[in-house]
Amino acid sequence: MKPQNPPKTYRVKSFGCQMNVYDGERMAELLGAKGIAPAPEGEEADLVVLNTCHIREKAAEKVYSDIGRLKKPDGSKPIIAVAGCVAQAEGEEIMARAPAVSMVVGPQAYHRLPEMLDKAVAGERATDTDMPAIAKFDSLPQRRKRSPTAFLTVQEGCDKFCTYCVVPYTRGAEISRPYSDLIDEARKLIEAGAREITLLGQNVNAWGGEDDAGRAIGLAGLIRALARLDGLERIRYTTSHPNDMEDDLIAAHGEVDKLMPYLHLPVQSGNDRVLKAMNRAHTAESYLRLLERFRDARPDIALSGDFIVGFPGETEAEFKDTLQLVDEVRYAQAFSFKYSPRPGTPAAMMDDQIDRQVMDDRLQRLQARLNRDQFAFNRASEGRTCTVLVERKGKRPGQWLGKSPWLQSVWFEADCQIGDMVEVELVEAGPNSIRGALNQPVTV
Ligand code: 5AD
Ligand code: SF4
Repeated sequence: MKPQNPPKTYRVKSFGCQMNVYDGERMAELLGAKGIAPAPEGEEADLVVLNTCHIREKAAEKVYSDIGRLKKPDGSKPIIAVAGCVAQAEGEEIMARAPAVSMVVGPQAYHRLPEMLDKAVAGERATDTDMPAIAKFDSLPQRRKRSPTAFLTVQEGCDKFCTYCVVPYTRGAEISRPYSDLIDEARKLIEAGAREITLLGQNVNAWGGEDDAGRAIGLAGLIRALARLDGLERIRYTTSHPNDMEDDLIAAHGEVDKLMPYLHLPVQSGNDRVLKAMNRAHTAESYLRLLERFRDARPDIALSGDFIVGFPGETEAEFKDTLQLVDEVRYAQAFSFKYSPRPGTPAAMMDDQIDRQVMDDRLQRLQARLNRDQFAFNRASEGRTCTVLVERKGKRPGQWLGKSPWLQSVWFEADCQIGDMVEVELVEAGPNSIRGALNQPVTV
């Protein structure tokens, strides 16, 4: 590779989950600390970081086509870094197949991006897919994100090894960030204007640490401590695993006002044979009982889940068990996917891979029910008055968008600004958002 001019501008393009969004922000902060500026809207940057996702199909192909399309106005290629889970899983292959790529950096190694960039400028290509998880957080610059909502990664990695999932291989073993680091980072985010913090982890409810007094605490303890921080109004967390759910977290939903009434708890399937083949280590029944306990603690809690249709060997009758579970839970929101064989995972080697058309049909039927329930949940909120955290301007002048406590998108007209908490009556529900009306003058 030829030596290249040091970049003046950068762009980080993040795909996939919220953890990638968080990582993308931190990479942007690293590049900012190196004196590189974000590229103006609509202009290609001198340095592009593709922060990739490997969870479902065609991830790698998408990366190659994105690389092919990157071009600066003068026709030359920007300096390209491939980060995220595709980088971790297929780093060597990317280096071999895509000569335009200067850097491949895994999710646990991106704190080394600035040194790698120096090498790239000198004309050397560099790959770093090591997994020394905690080191990364220790060597990142301070948070400076200015936004009323912020993500905070508290836990990374996964030891569950669901048979379809690539995460244990790309993100590595479960690790929890230390309590004091998290309180510190939360304080910085609040100083920079965050009023809502979403705690992130692949198994966020497996977080464990020691508080300042040296007592062992779990996620609920961390949430209770964060709730004591002035200026922070809302706390959320995602994604949880049913098997790591501690009693105190359920109790916290009834006790901590700042903890929002929303739970994202993936189940994947409503059939016990399929759940076992997925290595989920819970049953449909134990999952439903768990949800009941959340509803007892916080009757208005909005429930959300993840589903996979067409796992190898899934029969029509087994799929119908998933539909039945959905009918029982009545989710406020949900995410559903066609099974996608991931290289290196046990399920990819299983017999009885399901026909594409069967999967399409099942996904459609499942989504019809999930959409029905989401709309019904929104309609049931009509007439309620709640606090909305204003996140951005709407399409028309005077229009604003924000989220209800139940994570519904609410739009309304008001004289307010981003970051305000406003009292809004939920007037008219749509399938994906709700029209609201301001209930009182804005208080900041
Ligand atoms: N195929 C389809 N969906 C998957 N997910 C994870 N792995 C796969 C796969 N191989 C889904 C699960 C998980 C969500 C983040 O992505 O539902 O909860
Ligand atoms: Fe993947 Fe299962 Fe771990 Fe979630 S719990 S990240 S689905 S292996």
